[in-house]
Amino acid sequence: MFTEDFLLGLLRAKHIVVFTGAGMSAESGIPTFRDAQTGLWEHYDPHVLASPSGFLANKALVWGWYEWRRMQVLKAEPNAGHLAIADLMSYSERLTVITQNVDDLHERAGNRGVTHLHGSLHKPRCFDCGSPYTFPVGIPDEPAGSRRLEPPNCSLCNGPIRPGVVWFGEPLSSTDWNTAEKAAMECDVFFSIGTSSLVWPASQLPERAVLHGAKLIQINPTPTPLDSKAHYHFKGNVGEIMPALVTSLAEIF
Ligand code: OAD
Repeated sequence: MFTEDFLLGLLRAKHIVVFTGAGMSAESGIPTFRDAQTGLWEHYDPHVLASPSGFLANKALVWGWYEWRRMQVLKAEPNAGHLAIADLMSYSERLTVITQNVDDLHERAGNRGVTHLHGSLHKPRCFDCGSPYTFPVGIPDEPAGSRRLEPPNCSLCNGPIRPGVVWFGEPLSSTDWNTAEKAAMECDVFFSIGTSSLVWPASQLPERAVLHGAKLIQINPTPTPLDSKAHYHFKGNVGEIMPALVTSLAEIF
């Protein structure tokens, strides 16, 4: 599946960036957003569930939905793709993971310093004053996807606690964006894995990397706008392709 030239090119890279989207966690049982039938936005309205105005209009609906998603993540495990990306650290001088995912499966697989461009389900904060909120320890009862659950209130200002994810119409954290953009511009190899490459500005990162001379490798079972720009496109599931790649690297190393 992988040519010797391709593998040697990876081993020679000084800085590899791995950029992931919802497809990365699909094999851990976490639904994607836009896949037909199974994607979250096929069944739920992003204007209601992923915007500040949607939250203010129905806090219990929105908080309950994100708690349902957080429960899914707490019960999920990193898949073979996450583990292989952590193993890739052994074969590269420098590996940077940038994800659009709001789960913690890269960290639980062993990667450190992961940039979460779209925030995290595990880091809620006050809607009014921005103070972080710490969840009680343990896994609460699983709420159904549409179960309403009142959000807790901030211990400092009594404002409502909101999910720590970036919603439509909100800017990304400038620190996270700067880290991601710098890594894209500095790396020699850029993996784009499990993302439809439709959501701006994250979707700009692969092109930014190519413009600055990186080789672009895409792993995705379905077509994306990156198909014509990728130097290599492995059509399939990350949980199969990434472990096969790391095994091949180990053989040639
Ligand atoms: P999407 O749901 O838009 O795209 C998921 C991609 O993963 C699709 O291209 C699938 O073909 C691919 N895929 C599915 N299973 C896969 C597998 N096992 N291995 C590899 N690829 C697989 O998800 P994102 O691109 O991440 O924003 O969506 C970007 C943003 O849109 C999300 O971060 C979220 C959403 O609105 C926020 O929450 C702010």
